[in-house]
Amino acid sequence: MKKVYIETYGCQMNVYDSEIVKSVLGKSGYELTDSEAEADIVLLNTCSVRENANRKVYNRIHQIKQRRNDERVMIGILGCMATNFRKQLLENPKLPIDFIAGPDSYKRLPQLISEVSANGADGKNFDVTLSEFETYSDVYPTQSSGVNAWVAVMRGCDNFCTFCVVPYTRGRERSRSPENVVDEVKRLADQGFRQVTLLGQNVNSYNYEGKDFAYLLQKVSEVQGIERIRFTSPHPKDFPRNLLQVIAENPRVCKQIHLPLQAGNDRILEMMNRTYTQKEYLELVDEIRGLIPNIVLTTDIIVGFPTETDEEFEDTVKVMEQVVFDSAFIFKYSERPHTIAQRKFPDDVPDAVKTERIVRLNELQKTHSYQKNEAHIGEIHEVLIEQETTKKSPDEFQGRNDGNKIVIFPRGDYRKGQFVHVRITEVTAHVLRGEVVEVLSK
Ligand code: SAH
Ligand code: SF4
Ligand code: F3S
Repeated sequence: MKKVYIETYGCQMNVYDSEIVKSVLGKSGYELTDSEAEADIVLLNTCSVRENANRKVYNRIHQIKQRRNDERVMIGILGCMATNFRKQLLENPKLPIDFIAGPDSYKRLPQLISEVSANGADGKNFDVTLSEFETYSDVYPTQSSGVNAWVAVMRGCDNFCTFCVVPYTRGRERSRSPENVVDEVKRLADQGFRQVTLLGQNVNSYNYEGKDFAYLLQKVSEVQGIERIRFTSPHPKDFPRNLLQVIAENPRVCKQIHLPLQAGNDRILEMMNRTYTQKEYLELVDEIRGLIPNIVLTTDIIVGFPTETDEEFEDTVKVMEQVVFDSAFIFKYSERPHTIAQRKFPDDVPDAVKTERIVRLNELQKTHSYQKNEAHIGEIHEVLIEQETTKKSPDEFQGRNDGNKIVIFPRGDYRKGQFVHVRITEVTAHVLRGEVVEVLSK
């Protein structure tokens, strides 16, 4: 029996897909292993959203081959580089890879692998076609036991933000049926999961025969055993009111929204094709906070988009200061092949300027995160326990509160998967600390 090892890069969608791949290959008689050293087939499920993500993968391919020079190891490239970099991958004779499969081709993997085995070492086999329909609704991903499970509710993206490669790597947007999603969530509940996070590139545009994302959230929240539901990401351009209402009123839907801002300046937002203005974004934040006052808001920001001036960058600072996010992922603009920005706008902001801007925003965000966390001192938070140790200490437990913030507290007579009430006593910009005041029975 051939042994397969899979390594995952990029976002949660890729993590989810890796479980689909394991499920497909497991059914076809492959054995899965956690050890690269003993694998006959090494799969790299790749990301291509920024240049450094690509670089990591090229380095890994050479590493794997070098270490196993004398043995036959098959290397397959999956995921977003498979579609967006297929030419480079296929045509570079120095790259020791055997096959390539894009995000919509995973059901064909057993066939691709056996074709490579039959043909020997020459030639690279590939299937990178993107599908309008594939949602893997007939494949349930393997999920090892845990507390939180990810569930893809849609695939692809039709937004074409000009900087972004995802519409090219993952193709057109398509939604899974609510029944199919609910079935998967029921299985997860039976396996002991307490929380699910619904995934899509833009969940607001979820649509299955007229059923929208608010409907889906409501249905998922009715599954017995799942106590918490999160989702990522919504797009600020079209946040429906009925979705806000479900978040506000449904106790199982966590009061946390990841709302990618990208930039604070209207000219840059327009060049990015984000289709909202600074004013509209700020109004949406006000509306959200009006309905759900304790909402935790997080965001993504890009600095140094082509032609962004110092003054325009200050608009991003201004929006951050006005909103005060609980946390933010901040990135330097990275030009991606095939995107609209790559074709139309030269990457003209010097790297030193991007660095200056990212350092400034990271510092600003750190003070905001601390400020937000400090306000929690003295509060009692409901925490879902995720780990019975922490990185720093075997005598501490770790979990997350409703807002998805990490909460650390001393070891006690509790278990992973249980809910406890924790009084917050100390904070940093990254974590909350406290003591358990009550064990909850749910
Ligand atoms: N669909 C998600 C985003 C997926 S990519 C959404 O719209 O929320 C995650 C983040 O990576 C984006 O929000 C953006 O901030 C960042 N990103 C995407 N392309 C990038 C690029 N070319 N350069 C730098 N950051 C980028
Ligand atoms: Fe990329 Fe925009 Fe789609 Fe998000 S919404 S995946 S940033 S194109
Ligand atoms: Fe995800 Fe990276 Fe693809 S962020 S969608 S794995 S390009």
